Amino acid sequence: MNKKALTITLATGLVLSPMSFSVDAAKPAPNEQSDHAFDNKVIKKISSENMYNNIALLSKQPRAGGTEGEYKAVQYIKSEFERYGYKTELQPFTIQEWDGGDSSISLNEQVFPGDVHTFEGSINDHVTGSLFYVGLGSKDEVGDEVAGKIALIERGTYSFYEKIQNVYDKGAIGVIMFNGEGRSGNSFGYTYEGQDIPAVAITREAGLQLVEQLNNEDVKGTVSVENAGTIDKTSYNVIGKKEPHPNKDNGQIVSIGAHHDSVPNGPGANDDASGVAATLELARIMAKTPTDTELRFVTFGAEEKGLVGSYHYADSLTDDEIESTVAHFQMDMVGSRDAGELIMFTPDGNKNLVTDLGASAGARISGAVDYGELGRSDHVPFFLKGIPAALFIHAPLEPWYHSPDDTIDKISKEKLQNVAEIVGAAVYQIARPDTPALENARVAPNPADYVFDDRPL
Ligand code: BES
Ligand code: ZN
Repeated sequence: MNKKALTITLATGLVLSPMSFSVDAAKPAPNEQSDHAFDNKVIKKISSENMYNNIALLSKQPRAGGTEGEYKAVQYIKSEFERYGYKTELQPFTIQEWDGGDSSISLNEQVFPGDVHTFEGSINDHVTGSLFYVGLGSKDEVGDEVAGKIALIERGTYSFYEKIQNVYDKGAIGVIMFNGEGRSGNSFGYTYEGQDIPAVAITREAGLQLVEQLNNEDVKGTVSVENAGTIDKTSYNVIGKKEPHPNKDNGQIVSIGAHHDSVPNGPGANDDASGVAATLELARIMAKTPTDTELRFVTFGAEEKGLVGSYHYADSLTDDEIESTVAHFQMDMVGSRDAGELIMFTPDGNKNLVTDLGASAGARISGAVDYGELGRSDHVPFFLKGIPAALFIHAPLEPWYHSPDDTIDKISKEKLQNVAEIVGAAVYQIARPDTPALENARVAPNPADYVFDDRPL
């Protein structure tokens, strides 16, 4: 390591002032050993056991935004922040959820016995007409004969949008789509703005049987969709705030976050109970550690529904708060035993203050951490507000991503420990009272060399 480096030039172009590692002159000058000592105040206290236990608790059930499972997680996270001594805020926001209502089909006046699923976005209507099979529903397959009829379509090859648009343009009055080759169930399908015909889905088996029946006879069908539409649900962000030391307040804010919601069909142990557990652990430790910077620990709701919680949080910031927020660290999927190495993603693929701090902490703790380009998580709304932000994640991803198998048994305590140490050390580097952030900072033992990496996900 280069012990002579006296300044650190950040990717932001800011040059931080000469290093001086301690307010206490009796402490040793920087050297290889004290590099680690620089971080010990924080990283020695990190307990992977605590994080693991929190993941076990949070991943007992799915936590999709707006559900009871999310609400339980929210209450738990809030109570943990409070136990550590933080003031907390629950930030509610509305999300819209699709409800398929009641859909049914009848064929030649007999109620279709199979399960009928409403396409997301379908209008409510009740239509009756001859059934007409149009294959995969491509432009070439759909002719004028479908006008005034109910189109029977096979799923596959073309998008839902194209298929429905093609039959709609030719005057079809409704759609029954059956599942594609190799696919089970009937839970699929979207219609889009302006595609004003009722559309429903049935299984492949039921669909093929209908095709067979149509080869032998005319079938008169009814498609009915009732009570379908969007309903409002409430999701939450949970915020724990740590005020800076009153005599040392430099007016800056650093936020550390993760999303607490999961996909509906999985327990989300790694995605992202792991990030929540790491956020809680850093909050626990920092509660007793004086800083010159305000720290905000935030867990976001409804990330999986389109980063809804983090957009809401970023939009709730005043101009002053945006100006003062110098860094956002996002941890998402940070504990899988089956995923690759740690990487820091920014939405534009450029380095920033957060990646500089992360790379520097990584180099001190366990070795180089590279950076790459990716959105897809809650760092995006911060980035769009001009706040330096990065996503800490392991890549390539584990095969259990977004599946019911994203469970606690696949969580690695070593991975959790490593990420929490790196992010904790990076946050402490900028927030410690003897290193006012940015221009006044006396920072890293050494600027780190780190490179762009476009490894696959
Ligand atoms: N943890 C993932 C983000 C992710 C996935 C990062 C794969 C890197 C690789 C996150 O929870 C997620 O699934 N996000 C959504 C994006 C969102 C806008 C709905 C996604 O990527 O589908
Ligand atoms: Zn995630």
